[in-house]
Amino acid sequence: MDNLELWRQAAQDVFWYERPSIVLDSSRAPFNRWFPDGVTNACYNALDLQVKLGRGEQAALIYDSPVSATKRQYTYTQLLAEVARFAGALVDRGVVKGDRVLIYMPMVPEAAIAMLACARIGAIHSVVFGGFASNELAQRINDATPVVIVAASCGVEPSRLVAYKPLLDYAIDLAAHKPECCIILQRAMLSAQMIEGRDLDWLQVMSETEPVGCVSVEANNPLYILYTSGTTGQPKGVVRDTGGSIVALKWSMKAVYNVSPGDVYWAASDVGWVVGHSYIVYGPLFAGCTALMYEGKPVGTPDSGAYWRVIEEYKVSVLFTAPTAFRAIKKEDPQGQQLAKYDLSNFRALFLAGERCDPHTLGWAQAKLEVPVIDHWWQTETGWPVCSNCLGIEQLPIVAGSPARAVPGYEVRALGEDGSAVAAGDIGALVLKTPLPPGTFITLWNAPERFVEDYFITFPGYYETGDAGYIDDNGYVFVMSRTDDVINVAGHRLSTGAMEEVLFDDEDVGECAVIGVADPIKGQVPLGLLVLNSGVTTPYDTIIARTVKLIRNRIGPVAAFKLCTVVDRLPKTRSGKLLRGTLRKIADGDRWSVPATIDDPTVLDEVALALKRIGYPPNH
Ligand code: COA
Ligand code: AMP
Repeated sequence: MDNLELWRQAAQDVFWYERPSIVLDSSRAPFNRWFPDGVTNACYNALDLQVKLGRGEQAALIYDSPVSATKRQYTYTQLLAEVARFAGALVDRGVVKGDRVLIYMPMVPEAAIAMLACARIGAIHSVVFGGFASNELAQRINDATPVVIVAASCGVEPSRLVAYKPLLDYAIDLAAHKPECCIILQRAMLSAQMIEGRDLDWLQVMSETEPVGCVSVEANNPLYILYTSGTTGQPKGVVRDTGGSIVALKWSMKAVYNVSPGDVYWAASDVGWVVGHSYIVYGPLFAGCTALMYEGKPVGTPDSGAYWRVIEEYKVSVLFTAPTAFRAIKKEDPQGQQLAKYDLSNFRALFLAGERCDPHTLGWAQAKLEVPVIDHWWQTETGWPVCSNCLGIEQLPIVAGSPARAVPGYEVRALGEDGSAVAAGDIGALVLKTPLPPGTFITLWNAPERFVEDYFITFPGYYETGDAGYIDDNGYVFVMSRTDDVINVAGHRLSTGAMEEVLFDDEDVGECAVIGVADPIKGQVPLGLLVLNSGVTTPYDTIIARTVKLIRNRIGPVAAFKLCTVVDRLPKTRSGKLLRGTLRKIADGDRWSVPATIDDPTVLDEVALALKRIGYPPNH
C-alpha cells in the first residue's frame, strides 16, 4: 500500500467534524500538511468519543505515585468531566482557540487534565519538564507567550520536595512576557505562596466554573508546542498539528504496540517529554486503552521491584521506558529476584527508546521478562516511532543493537557527506525521505527558517535526524550516535552547547567544552573542560563547584552536570574547531588517534592527564 493510501485509511478510524477530502498538501514542502481540509478535536477523540463508544466506565487514567503514597483512578466519564470543567476554567480566564497555555507540572493527573482541556478548546499547550530551572522556563515563556500558566506547588523526588512555585515565580520575573494568570495545584505536601491578583488555586477555579464542550479545530492547527534541545542554548519549539497527531498516534497504538481498547498501556516517562505527550496521554486515550501515570522511579521508590509491582497491580499489557531504567534495575537486582515476587502474566511486551539500547541490557530484559523486548527509535520531532518491530503488523526477528526496520510511513536512508547512499553496513547520516508522515512536526514555533535550515537543507529531499548509523543488508537500522552536540542523559535529550553557553558566564572561564561521556546507568553524562582566564587565582575546586551549581541553577538538575575539570588548552583543528570526538574517545577509553587536522597534538596528552586525574576513563 502506498503512503497516501495508508494514511487515507488510517484517517477513517478517527472522529472528524468534517472529514478531509485531501490526504496531503505538499505544495509548500517542507511545510507539508496532512488532511488540510479536515476539522476535528483531539480531546473529543481522546474522551468524548470513547464515552460514546461505551467506554465510560472503563478506567481511562490510573495514577500511581509511590513518592506521595497516592493512588487514584479516573474512568473515561470522570476524566471527561474533569477536563471539561478545567477547559471551562481556562475559558473563564479568556483563553481562546490558538492561545498558548504553559504547563509546568510534575507527574500528576492534573497535568494530563490541563493538556486535554487545552485541546478541548483549541488552545495550544506547551508542557515544560519539571527538572528544568527558572532560566529555561523563562526562555519558553518568552517564546510561547502563554496567556495562562498551569503549575503545581511542588514535585516529589525521592530525596527531596522540589518547590515548583518559587521556580515559576522567578521565571516569570526573568521573562519579558507575563501571563495573565497562573493556576496552581496546591499539593498536600507543600503549599505554595500565592501572588494576589495573579495566582489562582486549581481547586477554587474548578469549583467556580462550568464544563464546556469541544470546539472544532482545523486539522493543521497546532495541538501543542514542545521544546527540545538543539545545538544552541535556544530550545526548539516543536509544533505538532491536531489531525495528523490523532491519526498517527491512534494508528501506532495498534500497529506498533499491538494494544487494543481496554488494554493497560504504561509509558514510564514524564509528561514533559515527547513520550509523555504521545504515549502517556494522547495515544492510549485515542486508542481507548487505560493510560498509566507513574510518579516514581524504577529503583528506590521503594525498591527495584517497583515496575513489577505496578505491572501486576494494574495488569499492564505493555510497558514503554528508557533503557536507563533497566540498567538501574539490573544494577540493584542482577538476578531478577524481585521479579519472582510478582505475577506478570498479563504483560506482553517491553518497548525501549530514548537512547541507544545496549545489547547487554536488551539481553538481560529478554532473559528475565520472557516477553518481546522491542528497541524502537524516534525523536521529539517525529512524535512517534520511526523504526520499530511492529508487533501489530508482524513481529520480525529481534536483533540486539537495532530498532529493526522503518515503520510504515517512514523511509530511512544512511547518506554520506556528499548526499549519496552509503553501502549497507557503512555509517552515514540517518535521514528520512520527505514528506514525513502525519503526526510529525509541522514547523518550529516562531522559527520556520530554523525548521528548514536545521532539518531539510543538508540533504535535499530528506529530513536530517541528527543521528548517525547504518542500515544492514536486511534493512535493519542501527542508530549509533548523534551528529550534533546533543547528548542523551538517562534518556533525556540535552544540549552540550547550551551548557557551554552557561559555563561561559562564569567570570573565571575563558573557554570551555562540554562532552557526553559514557555512564553505566545513565548512558551518557556531561563532562566539562574549563580553560581559565589568565591571572585567575581562585582555587580550581571553588571554580568547579561554582560551575556545577551554575548549570544546576540555570539549566536544572536534569542536566546531571557533576563532572568538571580545568585544562590549560582545548584540542582544536587548525581552523579552530573543537575536536569533540577525540575528547570523547579519550574520556571513554576508546581507541583514538591524533587527527590530521589538529593544531597542536601535545594538547591531547595534557587533556588525557587532566581527565585521568578525575577518573576518566574509568578502569573497568
Ligand atoms: N522535577 C525536578 N527535578 C527532577 C525531576 C522533576 N520532574 N526529574 C528529575 N529531577 C532531578 C532529580 O531529582 C535528579 O536530581 P539530583 O541531581 O538532585 O539527584 C536530577 O534531576 C536527575 O534526574 P534523573 O535523570 O531522573 O536521574 P536520577 O539519578 O534521579 O534517576 C534513573 C536515574 C535512571 C532512575 C531515572 O532517570 C529514570 O527513571 N529514567 C527512566 C525513565 C525516564 O525518565 N525516561 C525518559 C525518556 S523515555
Ligand atoms: P528525544 O527527542 O528526546 O526523544 O531524543 C531523540 C534522540 O534520542 C534521537 O535522535 C536519538 O539520538 C536518541 N534515541 C531515541 N531512541 C533511540 C534508540 N532506540 N536507539 C538509539 N538512539 C535513540
